[in-house]
Amino acid sequence: MAGFKVCVVGGAGGIGQPLSMLMAMDPNVAELCVYDLTIAMIPADGVAADLSHLNKAAKVKAYAFDKDARAADVAGECLTGCDLVLVPAGVPRKPGQDRAALLDINAGIAKNIVEACAKFCPEAVIALIVNPVNSVVPAMCELWKKAGHDPCKIVGVTTLDCVRAEKFVHEITGAPVGDISIPVIGGHAGTTILPLFSQDKAASTIPAADVPELDKKVQNAGTVVVAAKAGKGSATLSMGFAGARLGSAVLAGLAGTPTTECAYVASNVTELPYFASKVTFGEKGVETVHPLGDLSPHEQGRLEALTPVLKEEIDAGIEYASRNQ
Ligand code: NAD
Ligand code: LMR
Repeated sequence: MAGFKVCVVGGAGGIGQPLSMLMAMDPNVAELCVYDLTIAMIPADGVAADLSHLNKAAKVKAYAFDKDARAADVAGECLTGCDLVLVPAGVPRKPGQDRAALLDINAGIAKNIVEACAKFCPEAVIALIVNPVNSVVPAMCELWKKAGHDPCKIVGVTTLDCVRAEKFVHEITGAPVGDISIPVIGGHAGTTILPLFSQDKAASTIPAADVPELDKKVQNAGTVVVAAKAGKGSATLSMGFAGARLGSAVLAGLAGTPTTECAYVASNVTELPYFASKVTFGEKGVETVHPLGDLSPHEQGRLEALTPVLKEEIDAGIEYASRNQ
């Protein structure tokens, strides 16, 4: 197996714990670093000690840092040699909040980590789970480019939208869940989430009249979890599952088996500079950003409507980067 080093930043948090567990189970992982703050609710040491007993090949280590520490000063041993850094570090939203409200606080956390990756593991793929993905990814890519690095290493994680769309289509059609594959394009908030049901065999049998409601259900799924958790967080377990699906796809690509998943990346497949579509991961990370393919009239209309909304959120990220060099 490939023997990769993977770090989960925020690895003791709600997403970080299940994500760390699933990555520790990936046979391509030789070393898994659980990176969190010393003030984390569960100490990173405890999460790593727990995971170190799985009878899997991965060696699991913990790193905990002071909340005021500059990661570029303290995280050298943890990040050096990493092939993949998964970043669920950040604050989740509360009921009534939208993801965009998290930009300043979470982009500050991401910047601290991305700067440390630029210093210690500039060749690693950095997978950003932290919200708002639509703005944090452009912000971090702009900062990464200014530091002279390849922005194709930074990937926004939108896999949970695909996981949700696939589950909902399985519930409606009864098709085997493993046979369903729904590309979800655009971004990761509200109307910018656009599932392409027309591109999947089972989903394309759903009557056109039922598609708008199903589309909305995927867009609102995160908000449903936030409401159900009643102020105590957002999706963690399904996100850990989805993040590991993306993480394992990246590692498979690095190991020489090109693997395709949707992700939000620097893109030229539409007029927008960042966009989620199918991406093939290869030996250097993002290898191919695929065009959108054929869209139904409903999907075409939705794409036109979401473009200005996503543009505004991308601009907010680019503006963050120019304010915080
Ligand atoms: P959480 O509060 O349970 O965990 C976050 C963890 O990050 C905590 O352990 C915290 O100590 C740690 N952390 C904070 N600042 C850090 C820093 N500077 N360095 C290292 N670790 C740090 O939150 P969660 O539920 O795991 O959610 C994390 C983020 O993921 C939120 O922003 C949430 O909105 C986002 N999210 C994204 C998706 C997606 O589809 N992309 C899905 C769900 C949640
Ligand atoms: C999700 O889609 O579950 C995440 O983006 C978390 C959220 O705030 O909804």
